[in-house]
Amino acid sequence: MKVFITRKIPALAEETLINKGVGVTVFKKDRSITSDELIKGAKNADGIISLLTDKIDKNVIDQLPNCKVIANYAVGYNNIDIVYAGEKGIVVTNTPDILTDATADIAMALMLACARRIPDGEEMMRSDKFVGWKPQLLLGIELRGKTVGIIGAGRIGQETARRAKAFGTNIIYYNRSLKPEFEKETGAKKVSLNKLLKTSDIISLHVPLNDKTMHMLNSENMELMKERAILINTARGEVVDEKYLIKMLREKRIFSAGFDVYYNEPKVNKALLKLKNAVLLPHLGSATFEARDGMAKLAADNILNVLNTKKAITPVN
Ligand code: DGY
Repeated sequence: MKVFITRKIPALAEETLINKGVGVTVFKKDRSITSDELIKGAKNADGIISLLTDKIDKNVIDQLPNCKVIANYAVGYNNIDIVYAGEKGIVVTNTPDILTDATADIAMALMLACARRIPDGEEMMRSDKFVGWKPQLLLGIELRGKTVGIIGAGRIGQETARRAKAFGTNIIYYNRSLKPEFEKETGAKKVSLNKLLKTSDIISLHVPLNDKTMHMLNSENMELMKERAILINTARGEVVDEKYLIKMLREKRIFSAGFDVYYNEPKVNKALLKLKNAVLLPHLGSATFEARDGMAKLAADNILNVLNTKKAITPVN
């Protein structure tokens, strides 16, 4: 059996596969693979470990004649046409759970960075502009008593809420289904999307990207946000009308926004780079040693399970 890995990931993936007698090829270049390179590299592969930066659409799937499983090295899988893959008999898997804490930590870090203007303070120090304590220097927002609105109360959304709760906030959430256990534990209340946008001091996005969530926050409903609202996106850039959000930030119509993900990643709208009230991270949600090792092991185990005709551990189609 042969497996193609589209970029170097922790050695645990390769080791797990090789230990079970699987032949592994890893794309050698330290950059995202192109579709042509993926098709070429994976043409004889029984399985592929792909990244969220690899676009695996109908055209690519049609040129993977031997492929039985695509293990996406991410919890999100909007980069893969999972329906078409299913029609072609290819199982697609993702890596949930193991990156939940890492991603919730980043959401929390962005909340604090936005609320307390951490990047502004850092920049002031590094540019040697700190001339002493001042009563009005870089005033921010305290979390205690504020309302945090979680959009998408899945694993990551719930973990983010738990962290925010520990800072003394009240939690509301917007989700398709009611989450009684989560409500019992955190006192969270389910509300409509518009109510969440109107009443939250901090809004954190945790929905997957699909047809229903594309531009979920748009020019109309973002207008409902409070003047001092903070918006955090660790989900996918396309969930938000980014151009409109940039306009709102530029006009200081909300307090700030924390971005871990972008529209058309890895391109970043240059206007964002100029905004002092935007905190920008380079998609670091799952970037911990622990999470990335866990993701590597789970991706390899998913491949082995499918190729050994056992069921995938975390299938998405
Ligand atoms: C994922 O795995 O989909 C997340 O974007 C990680 O940050």
